[in-house]
Amino acid sequence: MSVALVTGASRGIGRAVALRLGEQGHDVAIGYSHGLEQAEQVAGELTALGRRAVTVGGDLGDPQAPGRIVGEVEERLGGVDVLVANAGIASAPTGILEVALEDWQRMLAVNLTAPFLLAQRVFPGMLERGFGRIVFLSSVAAYTGGLIGAHGVTVNVIAPGLIDTDMLPPEEGVREQLAASRAVGRLGRSEEVADMVVAVVANAYMSNQSIVIDGGTLPT
Ligand SMILES: NC(=O)c1ccc[n+]([C@@H]2O[C@H](COP(=O)([O-])OP(=O)(O)OC[C@H]3O[C@@H](n4cnc5c(N)ncnc54)[C@H](OP(=O)(O)O)[C@@H]3O)[C@@H](O)[C@H]2O)c1
Repeated sequence: MSVALVTGASRGIGRAVALRLGEQGHDVAIGYSHGLEQAEQVAGELTALGRRAVTVGGDLGDPQAPGRIVGEVEERLGGVDVLVANAGIASAPTGILEVALEDWQRMLAVNLTAPFLLAQRVFPGMLERGFGRIVFLSSVAAYTGGLIGAHGVTVNVIAPGLIDTDMLPPEEGVREQLAASRAVGRLGRSEEVADMVVAVVANAYMSNQSIVIDGGTLPT
């Protein structure tokens, strides 16, 4: 049976995910930061289900932690087949002006860099075994401008896809392939993104929206 690593599994959503995966027959490594006792309780519940379960501690804000944690799981349970990068921290409910740089950097380290490093570390083994599942826990906040957007200030996101700029691969054949993958049958133009930016700037009522401008994808 497969081995799952669930970070932040001592409490909340991660705990529930670890237990559900155990019920489904996966052996589970339970990631935690401070909650060793809670993590051990989860491990006890999984063991009672007949699963192998280990706890793996570490502060995912430390860039050395993801590699060490995965190494420990490999040693104790075997290669990671299922990664659920769930551990995360929330910002204090303050306004944008009160967010301290160190808090911002800490949030990026735990919520963004650690999931990337975990995925980077488990991916080669998954490729080798021809099986892998990676699940990132994100947030509805990722689809909005967050808490700001009051007092005459709107905040929106524009998410362009396959616009004909220097960012795309230069080879002609590749660009043609990319163009063919768009429902409209071509790459987008910078001016089309600019038109959308101008429309957002001119609009005082739309806030906290993510607008995808990608020519539509072909149904697969
Ligand atoms: N709950 C929501 O409404 C909500 C909304 C949007 C997104 N999410 C996302 O869903 C995921 C789970 O959230 P949750 O509500 O279950 O959170 P939670 O109850 O606060 O649990 C957080 C878990 O992450 C672990 N963790 C925190 N900081 C860590 C660190 N630096 N290193 C390693 N582990 C760390 C904690 O371990 P310890 O117990 O050891 O501290 C705990 O197991 C997070 O990614 C969160 O951003 C949740």
